[in-house]
Amino acid sequence: MITLDFANAMKECIGEEGLSEEELRGYSERALSALKELAGRRQPETAFLDLPDQDTGGIKETARRIRDGSGAFILLGIGGSALGPRAILEALSPFHNLRKRPRVFIYDNVDPSTLSTILSIAELERSFVNVITKSGSTAETAASFMILYKEMERLLGRDATGRFIATTDPEKGNLREIVRRHGMESLAIPPGVVGRYSVLSPVGLLLAEVIGVDSDELLRGAREARQRCMTEEPWTNPALMLSVLLYIMGTEKGRTIDVLIPYADGLRRLSEWFCQLWAESLGKLGTGFTPYPSVGTTDQHSQLQLWMEGPQDKVIVFLRVDDYGRDLEIPRVFTEMEGISYLSGHTLSELMKAEEESTELALARAGRPNITVGIPAIDAYHLGGLFIFFEIATALTGFLLGVDPFNQPGVEEGKNLTYGMMGKAGFEQKRVEVEAARRRKGGWRI
Ligand code: PA5
Repeated sequence: MITLDFANAMKECIGEEGLSEEELRGYSERALSALKELAGRRQPETAFLDLPDQDTGGIKETARRIRDGSGAFILLGIGGSALGPRAILEALSPFHNLRKRPRVFIYDNVDPSTLSTILSIAELERSFVNVITKSGSTAETAASFMILYKEMERLLGRDATGRFIATTDPEKGNLREIVRRHGMESLAIPPGVVGRYSVLSPVGLLLAEVIGVDSDELLRGAREARQRCMTEEPWTNPALMLSVLLYIMGTEKGRTIDVLIPYADGLRRLSEWFCQLWAESLGKLGTGFTPYPSVGTTDQHSQLQLWMEGPQDKVIVFLRVDDYGRDLEIPRVFTEMEGISYLSGHTLSELMKAEEESTELALARAGRPNITVGIPAIDAYHLGGLFIFFEIATALTGFLLGVDPFNQPGVEEGKNLTYGMMGKAGFEQKRVEVEAARRRKGGWRI
């Protein structure tokens, strides 16, 4: 079960910088109305709440075929179409390519050097490509898909199509049209599910099954977490409480930076997934909070100084794991060296947890609010729970802020200018604007 420990956000534990119980209770009504807004399901984009109930039969069938006949599984997508699958891969199958087959490459950029490297090492004739784009029109994904398709066609001729699985909208978009015209295999992202809320759709579940993770277990964890996170009682609902805490800290206390620091290497990518969710969902209409992806203990030696003594503008959200599944004892060597021999006989997980707890306490003593999300273990069940927990908390925070947590109007202008520069019909004026901007910039380069 996911736990939320917020003592170190309260006055009792950290003094003046904390919140009082009265202050927190003062938000109960608003918290409840945000929850009702989500539960009322007026926006179609709340469809992510239904994902835990889906049937995974088709996904499992496709995954079986890929597992049996594949050298590599290449996933093409960007944003919500890549960050979720990557979080699953790194959490549930660390060092995957060194230990297991098929090898997995998740490509979410248009850097020619990376894609060329993947092309040269992936044994393309034996590979499957999962191209993921909800809209079907994302330039980065389209470009890498077109390159992979041409390359596979060169190697396999007409059989190339059978090596692609398109994960996209069930009806709309260029990729769906290609599926129709070329008879490509496809999986559907339900219409209301937007990219950054799609990890528990075929976007993340196909990858999960391909690497041997039971997608039903991810969904079971999500179902149970959903039940708690939709409870109409802030004091027993961890997602609602997290949302209210970060909302008050951000809007009333000037703490607009939210650091997520899991104490587990396997959850580093979950941090990145969360950052997209938090940033793209909340950053609009002049409001929003800045997420920062971190990992413990590593960042104690990189960021902690700033968090302890820098500006009072952050909330640190720890993500604690009780059981790492494996452990290592620190042996009795160099016993004459007092400076390090105290470690002997302890385990690495003991050291990890001691560092995590000490960092929480050190921050608290310095009057720096921090909150701890806990999970018993990193497995499919708890990862599924974390996904929906953070999704619900994000949507609720959006409602508290009065923004639409499901759109991203701010990314359109950059896309349109790129279309203009790349010659897309209808965007000719944008090219003219880019050229004018280049001329204006001319005098300011040294
Ligand atoms: O959350 C979102 O909707 C976006 O970040 C998308 O995931 C991202 O832009 C990729 O979009 P698409 O899946 O349509 O290619």
